[in-house]
Amino acid sequence: MDSLLIKGGVPLHGEVTISGAKNAVLPIMAATLLTAEPCVIRRVPDLSDVKFMGQILMSLGAQVKFEGDTLRVHAAKVRGVGDYDLIRKMRGSICIMGPLLARLKQATVSLPGGCIIGARPINLHLKGFEALGAKITVEGGYVRAKARRLTGADLFLGGRAGSTVLGTANVMMAATLAEGVTIIESAACEPEVVDLANFLTAMGAKITGAGSPTITVTGVKALHGAEHEVIPDRIEAATFALAAAATDGEVTLRGARPDHMHAVLDKLHDAGVQVERRGTALNVRRNGRLKPVDITTLPYAGFPTDAQAQMMVLMAVTPGISIITERIFESRFMHVSELARLGADIEIEGPSAIVKGGRPLSGAPVMASDLRASAALVIAGLAARGKTLVNRVYHLDRGYENIDGKLRQLGARIERKEET
Ligand code: EPZ
Repeated sequence: MDSLLIKGGVPLHGEVTISGAKNAVLPIMAATLLTAEPCVIRRVPDLSDVKFMGQILMSLGAQVKFEGDTLRVHAAKVRGVGDYDLIRKMRGSICIMGPLLARLKQATVSLPGGCIIGARPINLHLKGFEALGAKITVEGGYVRAKARRLTGADLFLGGRAGSTVLGTANVMMAATLAEGVTIIESAACEPEVVDLANFLTAMGAKITGAGSPTITVTGVKALHGAEHEVIPDRIEAATFALAAAATDGEVTLRGARPDHMHAVLDKLHDAGVQVERRGTALNVRRNGRLKPVDITTLPYAGFPTDAQAQMMVLMAVTPGISIITERIFESRFMHVSELARLGADIEIEGPSAIVKGGRPLSGAPVMASDLRASAALVIAGLAARGKTLVNRVYHLDRGYENIDGKLRQLGARIERKEET
C-alpha cells in the first residue's frame, strides 16, 4: 500500500486546478443506465471510485471508455445484476439501483456495508422505491427491488440527519421513467444533486425544483443519450483552501465554484482567512491572525461534513478553543486520534470535538482511515514541523485526483512511496 512522505513547515504557494466533483460524477455515471443511447461525460476526475463505477457499469453490460477526462458510456443492453464484489466495496454504487429499477423494473445489489464513518443505512432509498411501487426483499446480504411498473408518488425522504444525498439521487432517477408525477419532499439540496438533475434533463427527463427541498419529476416513456460537463469538486476546493490557510501560504484555486461553497467561505472568513474571487478562480490566504470558530455540519447549504476533518486541522493550528459538532454521521472523528499523534489537543465530547488550538504540530507516522480524514492528515503533515508519513494512501486516491502532484505544484515537499 502506498504512503505519502511529507516534510512539513512549507507555506503553499501557486495555482491549482480543481477537478470534476466525485460526488456528482458517480450518480451521473449511474444515470447513463437509464438510456440505450450513448452518453458523453466531461471533466471526469481520475479517481479509483470513478474507475470502480466504470467497472460496475461494464459488469452490468455497458460499454465504458475513458479518454482523458472524457467518459463515454453506452448501456445499449443492461443486466439487473452487477459485480457484487465491486458493488460491496463502494458505497456510492448504491445509486445504480434507481436506474436499473427504472430501466429493467428490477435491481439487485449487495447491501452496502457500514464504513469507517458510521452505519450507512439505505432505508430511505428503499422507502422511495416502495412508494413508486417496487417490492423490496433483503436476503443473504443482498437487497432486491422489483416492480411490475413504477407509478409516480408523493414521498418524504427526510431521515435521521435531514436529507439523504444518494437517496434523493436514486429516487429521482427511478422517477424519471415512472408513470405520472413524483414529488420528493425533504430532498437533498446539494449541488451534486442539481448537477445530476441537469444531466437527466439533458437526457429528456422532466424535473423541477432540484436544489430545493421539493423536487418534482414527471415521468416520460424513455430517455435519450446526452453530453454533460461535471461541476467542479467543492470539497477538493475546500481541502486546498484549508491547506493554504493552515500552512500560511497563498493559493489560487482555478475553476472553483464559490456559489457552491458559501458555508465554507463564511467560516474561513470568520477564521481570519481571506478568499478573493479572481475571474473563475479563488485566491486564498490568511488575513492577519487566525481566529477560532465553531462548526456544526449540516445538510447543504450548511457546513459540509466532507470538509469537517480538514477544518479541524486549521482549528488545531489556531490559538484558542473551537467546537466542531458532527451532525451527519455518528462517528466521523477517526482523524482525531491520528491528529493527536501530531500534537493536536482535541477532546471528543459526544457529537462534538473540542479543539484547543495553537500548539505547533510536529510530524509523525499516521494511518489514513476514511477519505476526508486522510486529507486532514495530509494538511496536518504539511503544517507540522518535521516529517509525516501518511499510510494507506489508497483512501485518498478514492476521492482526490493526483493530490500529491497538485501539492508538489504548490511547493509542498511530498513524495509517494510505492509499497514494494
Ligand atoms: C453522500 O453520501 C456523499 N457520497 C458523502 O461523501 C457525503 O458525506 C454524504 O452524502 C453527506 O453529504 C456520495 O455522494 C458518493 P447521505 P450518502 O445519504 O448519500 C443517513 C465523501 O467523503 N441515511 O446523505 O451516502 C446516513 O446514515 C463521502 O465524499 C439514513 O439514515 O449520505 C447519514 O447519517 C463520504 N438512511 C445521513 O443520512 C438512508 O437511507 C446522510 O447520509 C440514507 C442515509
